[in-house]
Amino acid sequence: MTRYSALLGTGGYLPERILTNEEISRTVDTTHEWIMERTGIAERRIAGPGETASSMGEKASRMALEAAGLVPEDIDLIIVGTGTPDRVFPSTACLLQHRLGIRQCAAFDVQAACSGFIFALSVADQYIRAGTARRVLVVGSELNSRLLDWSDRSTCILFGDGAGAAVLGVSDRPGLLSTHIHSDGQYQDLLYVPNSIVTGDSGTGEDDTPYIKMQGNEVFKVAVNTLGRIVDETLEANGLQKSDVDWLVPHQANIRIIAATAKKLKMPMEQVVVTVERQGNTSAASIPLALDEAIRDGRIQRGQTVLMEAFGGGFAWGSALLVY
Ligand code: UT7
Repeated sequence: MTRYSALLGTGGYLPERILTNEEISRTVDTTHEWIMERTGIAERRIAGPGETASSMGEKASRMALEAAGLVPEDIDLIIVGTGTPDRVFPSTACLLQHRLGIRQCAAFDVQAACSGFIFALSVADQYIRAGTARRVLVVGSELNSRLLDWSDRSTCILFGDGAGAAVLGVSDRPGLLSTHIHSDGQYQDLLYVPNSIVTGDSGTGEDDTPYIKMQGNEVFKVAVNTLGRIVDETLEANGLQKSDVDWLVPHQANIRIIAATAKKLKMPMEQVVVTVERQGNTSAASIPLALDEAIRDGRIQRGQTVLMEAFGGGFAWGSALLVY
């Protein structure tokens, strides 16, 4: 039997606190109009003091398990994509496993910045296809707000907090048609967070503060080109045409990047799931959050073909093509 990964259920969690552009413009030199025009972001969610990637991940996971009609004990592998783990170690996946009240199953994190969910999905798919896992919990959870320099207007306007989860199960019908992941470390200095606790002061006079540093316009250019290429790669690998894709569920970094990918697919924006306006960039959480929203509100229907794609720090980028 050919084994496929089927998407059994999804869940999403957003912290209560909403931070608007208007509020940010009271503390840094920016405006709602500038942020909307350049990014499409109007507001984002900010985690409360007691919240962490694992606590938000638990909420999203429980919803996904319920949607799948499963209980935590049914899970035999947990993979969390996060760049904002609760602890350097153990992994957020281990902490999430404990929160879910289960033991023994393997649990580990994947670090691929904004592409963390796609990378985690890709790993999960290999386990299921190989027959070494039957039910995998895949989570993207991020607490970006604590990695931001709130006086840096070029980054603090962009990011938000949240978590999304998906439960994959083994099936004899497709499922995940394919996943494609890539990395190129030569771009490491365009988007990164220093870890000066471990590395010490670089001694170069560089800014070693532990906050997100980004050369936004450089990232933007590479992102648009790279995402265009991965769309072609994904369709070609499956012998499909652009018109075969029913929904695009992109990583939500910037509405202009999303629109460029939709244009490449010749797809009207009505077929693109967009959450960036209300959530900002939630890194590894953005795709599972968008997927969950569109499944729950009935846009994405069983049997439809969904293209997910992401791009972020590394650079690391990837895609997944799913028949839901
Ligand atoms: O998820 C991981 C991947 N990340 C991304 O894909 C992000 C990619 N980058 C972007 O989304 C965009 O580059 C940004 C939204 C970050 C910036 O937009 P941009 O159109 O590329 O602007 P820019 O960085 O070229 O800056 C243009 C101007 C600059 O002023 P000068 O030098 O032209 O006088 C900036 O200082 O806009 C200024 N600026 C701002 N002005 C008002 C930068 N941030 C702000 C701000 N408010 N918040």
